[in-house]
Amino acid sequence: MFYKVLQIVKKEVINNKYFIITFSNSDMADQCHPGQFFRLKNQQQNFPILPRPFSVYNIQDGKISFLIKIIGESTKNLFETKIGENISLHGPLGNGFKLVKNKKVLIVSGGIGYAPLNFLCDELKKADNEITFFHGGKGSDDIFSKIIKIFTEDGSIGEKGLVTDRLEEFLSQNQIDIVYACGPKIMMKKIYELCKIHNIGLQVSLEAIMACGVGSCCGCTIKIFNENNEIIYKKVCKDGPVFDGYTVVWDE
Ligand SMILES: Cc1cc2nc3c(=O)[nH]c(=O)nc-3n(C[C@H](O)[C@H](O)[C@H](O)COP(=O)(O)OP(=O)(O)OC[C@H]3O[C@@H](n4cnc5c(N)ncnc54)[C@H](O)[C@@H]3O)c2cc1C
Ligand code: FES
Repeated sequence: MFYKVLQIVKKEVINNKYFIITFSNSDMADQCHPGQFFRLKNQQQNFPILPRPFSVYNIQDGKISFLIKIIGESTKNLFETKIGENISLHGPLGNGFKLVKNKKVLIVSGGIGYAPLNFLCDELKKADNEITFFHGGKGSDDIFSKIIKIFTEDGSIGEKGLVTDRLEEFLSQNQIDIVYACGPKIMMKKIYELCKIHNIGLQVSLEAIMACGVGSCCGCTIKIFNENNEIIYKKVCKDGPVFDGYTVVWDE
């Protein structure tokens, strides 16, 4: 894990909701595993005080990129930064996805849930997996590259409807070994229900509002079923953000 202040080496604006910022540091890049995240903060920004968590989106040639959706003050501030500005990076943090080899894999993302799954997809491809990627968004603004099957709620691009609408049919017609998902909780709950019906393994990346990011403040706790089916508390930042979808308490 590193704590470093690095300059932005590249910035790409995708549209008025999303942008990508890139940093160069091969030591950091080498340590990153899909599903892990960094806490980022603009050194010039006084408020909000706490850094914000962002998943590793892409690793290439010693560079680390983050795909960021503009939500509030910190993300707006990061959007306004320029190449050469200093950003503090703390990470990689958390436990990422368990990778498989030579399997039939389905990846499902919703909105900004695409960010960690892009890096995951790259690593799974290197391990000779056969990958199908479903992605859903509200409209064409929420659609990124590398996507095989896309859905939008307003039908402005891809198929009209929710990303989960076609999953039932797809899972009935295709033999899938494992599903990886990240997106709104309601989407991941539906994916869990479908995986359960078809007896398929599921790994999900969860979000929580975070403070320390390293397991000290208990600000990001969620409920999980343990092996005795009892509810226990786990920290998204330290125990996750990736969890076995079968252990998550979806109904609350
Ligand atoms: C492990 C992890 C990985 C993440 N990866 C990415 C990523 O790759 N790209 C990306 O764009 N975002 C990602 N996020 C979400 C990102 O951290 C938040 O969007 C960001 O903290 C918002 O900061 P802000 O100051 O702009 O908005 P704030 O002012 O902090 O928040 C604006 C509003 O959004 C709500 N909010 C903030 N954060 C969250 C959250 N995590 N879940 C639900 N509601 C929230 C707040 O309650 C508030 O109402 C991730 C979050 C986690 C926990
Ligand atoms: S953010 Fe502090 S324990 Fe997770």
